[in-house]
Amino acid sequence: MKQQVAYILLITVLFTQCKVDPEIKPALPADDIRVVVPEGWPRPHYNFENNPLTKEGFILGRSLFYEPALSRDNTISCGDCHQHFVAFANAGHSLSHGVNGQLGNRNAPPLFNLTWHPYFMWDGGINHIEVQPLAPITNPVEMDETMENVIAKLKNKSNYRKMFKDAFGDDSITTQRIFRALAQFMGSMYSYQSKYDMVKKGKATFSAAEQRGYNLFVQKCAICHKEPLMTDFSFKNNGLSVNPALQDSGRMRITGNPNDRNKFKVPSLRNVALTSPYMHDGRFETLEQVLDHYRFGIVQSPTLDTLLQNGIPMSDQEKQDLIQFLYTLTDYEFIYDKKFDNPNR
Ligand code: HEC
Ligand code: HEC
Repeated sequence: MKQQVAYILLITVLFTQCKVDPEIKPALPADDIRVVVPEGWPRPHYNFENNPLTKEGFILGRSLFYEPALSRDNTISCGDCHQHFVAFANAGHSLSHGVNGQLGNRNAPPLFNLTWHPYFMWDGGINHIEVQPLAPITNPVEMDETMENVIAKLKNKSNYRKMFKDAFGDDSITTQRIFRALAQFMGSMYSYQSKYDMVKKGKATFSAAEQRGYNLFVQKCAICHKEPLMTDFSFKNNGLSVNPALQDSGRMRITGNPNDRNKFKVPSLRNVALTSPYMHDGRFETLEQVLDHYRFGIVQSPTLDTLLQNGIPMSDQEKQDLIQFLYTLTDYEFIYDKKFDNPNR
């Protein structure tokens, strides 16, 4: 019920935003920019030591995140594939669409709590948040652009010189500064205020069904989807069939090691109610389908995780309880936080 109310609220917010005249829209807030490490969480992997987090850096990073000039034909920004209202996943797209409508080969993951990630992408092929943007910018089926051109285009746009000066002390526009500003923006996307978190802090209580679902989660899922980040960042084969059109071997593409065949980075389940479609290729549309995969759909193969050899048996009631629990991982504070919205819209 609460879930439904929240969805209606979300839709209303989006709708009213569309109608706002950009001329009279007040400047987007960016006041509470700070490094967050919630109590009881592990230490983040990236700590902004060499890239101090500032309001100006965040504002520049936000502008770049929503900047279509980062793509060859100036049509696609990071924010087109990573959309705020679905926790920066890509709503309704199983595989991402890049410039000229070209189809990518993986599902765009949501973005939050990135400073805890030891590596990025479904196969962990990138190991630093400050180089990650190079991949989508230069990928021919994503933005298909060069850093040289990006810099030239930014130099010709009003505002950017001033924004770089405000953020970094002088107005030179460099690849490193672009990446650092993006890291400041993306690294500030924290999701730690879901109902689940409130329950953990003793500020809310689970319903009976949510509590039963949580107990099941701890028994059957949390070993990989580890609390509190809801992932242990390991690479696992969770028994999906290989998509014949994509032939994606996952982690093995990076290591060349056959023991890594069909292993993918365990995704966080925070905000999972919003981030459909699911899995590295977006093959499932609903959480029901995901759970039915774990119940009945596990495909045996040499690298299948030993925990999943017999699937994860559960009754229909248990499945519903588990879904009720997964809904408590939605963080509306994060989803409605206006500082992450497109400043040019
Ligand atoms: C055409 C759609 C598209 C665009 C544009 C795009 N991304 Fe992505 N993004 C993806 C996909 C798909 C993946 C997963 C890629 C993989 O695993 O190989 C991804 C992965 C990521 C990740 C890693 C997340 C994780 O959990 O490992 C980050 C961070 C990210 N993108 C940031 C950006 C930034 C910054 C930009 C703009 C410079 C951008 N993306 C542009 C589709 C896109
Ligand atoms: C052995 C480790 C492991 C266990 C146990 C496990 N998962 Fe997963 N889970 C994964 C991996 C790995 C993926 C990503 C697989 C891929 O896309 O190739 C995943 C993906 C998912 C996704 C899709 C998320 C997204 O953003 O696409 C959901 C939802 C999910 N698991 C829920 C669960 C639930 C609920 C349980 C317990 C019933 C569970 N998992 C048990 C490893 C595990």
